[in-house]
This record gives sequence, C-alpha cells and structure tokens, in this order.
Amino acid sequence: MKPKVVVTRKVPDRAIELLAPHCELDVWPEEEAPIPREVLERKIRDADGLYCLLTDTVDRTLLDLAPRLRIISNMAVGYNNIDVAEATRRNIMVTNTPDVLTETTADLTFALLMAAARRITEAERFLRDGKWKTWSPMLLTGQDVYGATLGIIGLGRIGSAVARRARGYDMRVLYHATRRNEQAERELGVRYAGLDELLAESDFVVIMTPLTPQTRNLIGARELALMKPTAVLVNAARGGIVDERALYDALKEGRIWAAGLDVFEEEPVPTDHPLLSLPNVTALPHIGSASVRTRTRMAELAAENLLDGLAGRVPKCLVNREVADGRG
Ligand code: DGY
Repeated sequence: MKPKVVVTRKVPDRAIELLAPHCELDVWPEEEAPIPREVLERKIRDADGLYCLLTDTVDRTLLDLAPRLRIISNMAVGYNNIDVAEATRRNIMVTNTPDVLTETTADLTFALLMAAARRITEAERFLRDGKWKTWSPMLLTGQDVYGATLGIIGLGRIGSAVARRARGYDMRVLYHATRRNEQAERELGVRYAGLDELLAESDFVVIMTPLTPQTRNLIGARELALMKPTAVLVNAARGGIVDERALYDALKEGRIWAAGLDVFEEEPVPTDHPLLSLPNVTALPHIGSASVRTRTRMAELAAENLLDGLAGRVPKCLVNREVADGRG
C-alpha cells in the first residue's frame, strides 16, 4: 500500500508528478485559500506524510491527531510554523527548502531596499494619481544607496547573498549574528558589529534572521531609537521580528526614514493596518522567493524531501537530524 500524503495547497504540477507514482495523495485544491484547520485535522489522522506551507500551523494539537505521521515537508526555508521540538519528540522528520531560494530572495530584498530608499512605490502612486505637475528640484527625493552603510542582521545564506549584491553598490557592510563568521568577513568584506553599533551606524538595516523565541521583537522601540533619522529598515525575513507598533511610531514621527516590509506579524496584513497608512512604508505580500523558477524548484525539493523520508532515506534538507540519528 502506498503511503498517504496530505498536500495542503495547490502546488506546482512538478511536485505532484514526483509524488503521485509513490503516494496516495490528498491535495487541498485551492490556490489562494489555505486548507481550513478542521479539514486538515480530519485529513491528518491517517497520513504518513504532510506536505505543507508556511501558512499551516503544525502544532502539538495537530500532531496529537496524526499517529502515523513520519515526515513534515515544509515548502519554505523558514519553519517557524512547525513545532519542531514536538515533532522530534515523536520521531517525525521535518524538512525545509533552503539554498534554492537564496538568490531570488536576496534579489527581492535588495529591490525592497532600493524601493524604500528611492520612494519607488510612492512615486508611482503619485504619478498615477495625476499629481505630477512639473519636474521640481526636491520632488520625491530619497536616500542614496551607493556608498552607504548596510547593516545585515543574520548573515546566513540569504544575508550573505545580500552582502554580495551590496558590493556592486560600493556599500560598507556590517553584520550582526549570534556567531562571528571570519570566513564570510574575508570572502565578502563584511565587518562584525554588536547589534547596537550596527543599528547606530547603518543607513540601511536589513533583517535576515529566522523567527525564533530569541528573535521575536528583536527590533523594538529601544532598537529603533538607536537608528539614524535617515535610515531605512528592511524586513524580508519574518514579521514577528519587528515590533510593528514601535515601527509605526518611529516612522510616523520621522525618527527613521522609511521601511521596506515583505513580511508582517499577521499575514495577510489587514488593509487597515496602521503601517499601510504611512507613505514611507513600501509593503509587499511576502514574495521574497516568488520567481517562477524558484517556486517550482522549492515545490520539487519539498517533494524530494518527502519521498526520501517516506522511503527511509535521510532527506537532503532535514531540519531535525536527531530523528535520523535515532535520538528523537
Ligand atoms: C521562506 O521560504 O521561508 C520564505 O519566507 C518564503 O519563500
């Protein structure tokens, strides 16, 4: 009998082509609506594998309903939607999709940085709203990117890819991370800084760290107060890392210049969210990795991870290695 796999969304065809010969698939067919929790709770009861997205919360309650579950394959590099400790305790493998999205996400992060610095979306709105009456010396002036100081919080794969892009703009790059990375310092020409120093010296602060209990609200009122009034904050990692209320106040009062946000505490962000009322916020709907090629590759990799796990092989992108080592 083939293992049963629940797929929580319509995913690229390529993933289904890979899975179908080996699994009995139960696919939630919607593209733009997550699987309702009660439906997932029903379907998970006899599932051997779960192919899920960052919009699905895989917590203890769900795992309690899934006695047969052997692997949770998340089609994302981030996995804060999954209670990994709980999965590990039950010997359930958790996998993600790193590497394949690194460059695409770094492209978007840099685009967001440039858009916020040069007021791109605000300027386009201005034009479309018929407000452009004449060229004028200080109209829609922003901040220079070239030659500026960039501070990257979290120098992992995507953070390093952002640092490489910054070299093309002659930027001085600082980074803050839990551990100093001397190899990256040599290869990328970046300099380690304490968080407060990075915040105080940077013209652009880019958040590239995962959301964990330690990074939740890492950037709050105190941290924002350390930034320059001309500084731009960019978050393309996870919403919970920045205290949105404190960010709103800082932007509204001109204590920092602008923000570029691809992620929010609550997603989809409500359209009446205070941050969306500010002209100095460039906001995107969590599209960091959204190129056709990368999303297809992520879908494929998530399928490969799942098939490996179900076949008793160690998946390439296993998050909780303890399970494969028999230490779960
Ligand atoms: C991820 O993979 O974690 C991104 O947020 C979506 O690509």
